[in-house]
Amino acid sequence: MIKKCLFPAAGYGTRFLPATKAMPKEMLPVVNKPLIQYGVEEALDAGLNEISIVTGRGKRALEDHFDISYELENQIKGTDKEKYLVGIRRLLSECSFSYTRQTEMKGLGHAILTGRPLIGDEPFAVVLADDLCVNLEGDGVLTQMVKLYNQYRCTIIAIQEVDPQETNKYGVIAGDLIGDDLYRVRNMVEKPAPEDAPSNLAIIGRYILTPDIFELIKQTEPGKGGEIQITDALMKQAQNGCVIAYKFKGKRFDCGGAEGYIEATNFCFENFYKTGKAY
Ligand code: UTP
Repeated sequence: MIKKCLFPAAGYGTRFLPATKAMPKEMLPVVNKPLIQYGVEEALDAGLNEISIVTGRGKRALEDHFDISYELENQIKGTDKEKYLVGIRRLLSECSFSYTRQTEMKGLGHAILTGRPLIGDEPFAVVLADDLCVNLEGDGVLTQMVKLYNQYRCTIIAIQEVDPQETNKYGVIAGDLIGDDLYRVRNMVEKPAPEDAPSNLAIIGRYILTPDIFELIKQTEPGKGGEIQITDALMKQAQNGCVIAYKFKGKRFDCGGAEGYIEATNFCFENFYKTGKAY
């Protein structure tokens, strides 16, 4: 059973400067909740209640968010404002939170490796909180992926079809269709130009990884900008036939940039806030 979910949250968030100068990108609110809270809710709904967060300098707000604020609790106790804290209280009582710091921001692969002491030798999920995923029709995206992991027992990565002109923003896969919306991954390219892309199936910020990934990341040479990419380590797993890509059901908003963030905000306002499901 997978219980652990890792949130790499040490990145600089440069696309959202200056908002992210002194505040973590993962704390940007989408309507009334910070991005990371949506991610933790999705993890808990999937049965993952051991939350591990890779933070960095200037990210202490993340730890404070997942803690009791006694003064606030005292202030609103017994008032009609208590309803605003119902959701976050549930997370605090049902999840454990552990943290480690990435001291040098050497890429997503390196951030995941930094989380190794919190994960140990077991399969785990990874959520990039700036990809906000929702499915109004049924299971959340991580729940869908955990079910697949239980069936296939190998690394599962979430993919989505993107505009062929935008492949240079993503890791892109090539694979063989093995079931409904399921591909066994054969090849993977990090941020290919449209003419070099093997498909328009792009990797988004949800993964279930088997623990052998850590040694594979260790063997990965830094690429562009000295960053260690996760794609290279995944590629090695894929060569052994152990990576399945899943075209998930639901929507994904890239909240790392202004456009996706605004779309997510409008979506959550209409579907959660106005309908009273936002807490
Ligand atoms: P991004 O590619 O979105 O990078 O990282 P970023 O630094 O957060 O944002 P921009 O591109 O500068 O605007 C994807 C995820 O990996 C984490 C980020 O926090 C984000 O959740 N990450 C990235 C780390 O934890 N450490 C790193 O060294 C790099």
